[in-house]
Amino acid sequence: MDSNKSILVLGIETTCDETAAAVVERTPDGAGRILSDIVRSQTEEHARFGGVVPEIAARAHVDVLDHLVETAMKEAGLDYARLSGVAAAAGPGLIGGVIVGLTTAKAIAMVHGTPLIAVNHLEAHALTPRLTCALAFPYCLFLASGGHTQIVAVAGIGNYVRLGTTVDDAMGEAFDKVAKMLALPYPGGPQVERMAVGGDPNRFAFPRPMLGRGDANFSLSGLKTAVRNEISRLTPMEPKDVSDLCASFQAAVLESTVDRLSVGLKLFAERFGPARALVAAGGVAANQAIRDALQDVAARAQTTLIIPPPALCTDNGAMIAWAGAERLALGITDTMEAPPRARWLLDANASIPAGFANSRAGF
Ligand code: KG4
Ligand code: ZN
Repeated sequence: MDSNKSILVLGIETTCDETAAAVVERTPDGAGRILSDIVRSQTEEHARFGGVVPEIAARAHVDVLDHLVETAMKEAGLDYARLSGVAAAAGPGLIGGVIVGLTTAKAIAMVHGTPLIAVNHLEAHALTPRLTCALAFPYCLFLASGGHTQIVAVAGIGNYVRLGTTVDDAMGEAFDKVAKMLALPYPGGPQVERMAVGGDPNRFAFPRPMLGRGDANFSLSGLKTAVRNEISRLTPMEPKDVSDLCASFQAAVLESTVDRLSVGLKLFAERFGPARALVAAGGVAANQAIRDALQDVAARAQTTLIIPPPALCTDNGAMIAWAGAERLALGITDTMEAPPRARWLLDANASIPAGFANSRAGF
């Protein structure tokens, strides 16, 4: 790849319940620009089941992806010959959906002779802040979505060190399950946040999981069980009870998150020096109470909090295109044999080079 030329990448996302396609430009100085970004959420298809049904998700991706890709290219004003690469999220995620997106990207790559980049969905979340602002490595990432809750040192492209993770439920999953117990509509996270407004966060003394532990791991299933037990004691349940339960649950999540992230930032500093930034990503980062709490954590650790705009926190195609562009800029591409992966650890092959050369990479 000529390092003096702009890179144009089409990105495809189909790992869960959003079908998305986008075109992103990466200029030689490392800055990013979104030329088109189209997301079609499957919320309606899954709502009556109270959660994502994998088979329905895969079929819905098949139904709309071709049209979405075409629209993304049209909005970007490009024909396929202009693309430097085509990227697809190759996992981790629901395997049926991953196959749909990756196969589509392979077909485009083959027909137009375009390089293919098989992107790790978590890596895409991790690199998103570099699309919207000039952020150099290393930085500390808090990733909290429906399937993942991790604190990760982002040391360079392809160089990730997991500092903490959940030992049971993901944070978004816990929000979704609490919402389901309270008969709130799917997806539950935003509903719990809405109901918590005006609720009494001190009415129920829920446990603060992992508080004070030396590692930076999370645990959410005990808290979820405590909420369930409280619900079973509250019959009939009044609207005020629902609000107070949501507020008390969210307060427990917040206190635990603040504690876990403080430890995570300490572990980061021991290994990499003070973090340049604390970055939050994933659907849960759309929660305003969590955003406020992260601001406090960052201030106490004397670092800057960066949270991409909500539309780039939840799943989208621009983040996949951007991760593809970042890899392509380093000459990294994949072959037609790139496998779809249901599981794919972000730090699977991570290693820290001697002298930590990557810390000066980027902008
Ligand atoms: O990153 P994302 O869009 O998809 C993946 O899971 O990869 O995250 C979705 C998750 C869901 O569990 C959803 O309930 C949660 O993020 N979420 C929220 C909020 N908005 C989305 N959780 C709490 N508060 C919110 N405002
Ligand atoms: Zn995601």
